[in-house]
Amino acid sequence: MYEICPETAADEPEVEALYDLCFAPGRTALSSYRLRDGVPRVADLCLVLRADDVLLAAIRFWPVRVARRPVLLLGPIAVHPTAQGEGLGGMLMRDSLNRARKLGWSRVLLVGDAPYYSRFGFQRLDDVVMPPPTNPDRVLGLELWPDAWVGVSGPVMRETSPGVTEMLAQYTRSPKIGSACVTVVPPDAQVSQEDTDGDQSAAGASADQ
Ligand SMILES: CC(C)(COP(=O)(O)OP(=O)(O)OC[C@H]1O[C@@H](n2cnc3c(N)ncnc32)[C@H](O)[C@@H]1OP(=O)(O)O)[C@@H](O)C(=O)NCCC(=O)NCCS
Repeated sequence: MYEICPETAADEPEVEALYDLCFAPGRTALSSYRLRDGVPRVADLCLVLRADDVLLAAIRFWPVRVARRPVLLLGPIAVHPTAQGEGLGGMLMRDSLNRARKLGWSRVLLVGDAPYYSRFGFQRLDDVVMPPPTNPDRVLGLELWPDAWVGVSGPVMRETSPGVTEMLAQYTRSPKIGSACVTVVPPDAQVSQEDTDGDQSAAGASADQ
């Protein structure tokens, strides 16, 4: 059994250590980090996944703008090397994207490997430009509402609206909306449970508490 919870200030050192372990040194020098500088995270969507209190995976989101429209920038996401390939990344992706939809976000952007992220519905965004140097093939988008990316194109910009950043900073201090923890069943356990008792209700990645 795993627990997925919104990241708290107490989690932060462990999350940073996980990212340092999973990414090349100097990750924060990447151009995508310039979009995050001085901008609060979307606290309700920054999640940690633990098993018996051990941090195994984490995901973060920031607000950005494209053509003045609000966009969620997904990432970083990382799973501890000893737990990769067990479906944890998929569980965090699906849970965070469900939360984002419920919170009213319309569109998500990330820079990553299309062969992995296409399974969650991400597709190349031909007309959205990340700060250089970014390989355009790795600029991917997902619509949380139908046609949310239609007509939304141009450079990706930092969120600078004081109203938005102040609201997000407030939630970072005390997240309220969508801040519930959920317990999730490992994908392998779901399969064996379905095999033995035919209970299809466990097929979802997570169950709200
Ligand atoms: C990428 C990552 C988050 C995926 O999480 P995970 O829990 O290992 O992945 P899952 O178990 O959900 O999915 C495993 C599947 O994804 C595939 N996969 C994993 N990383 C992939 C990648 N970079 N490109 C293509 N496919 C990938 C695996 O081959 C496997 O495929 P299968 O289902 O056909 O067997 C994790 O491997 C990780 O932390 N990697 C290092 C950090 C990183 O690259 N983060 C993403 C960039 S922001």
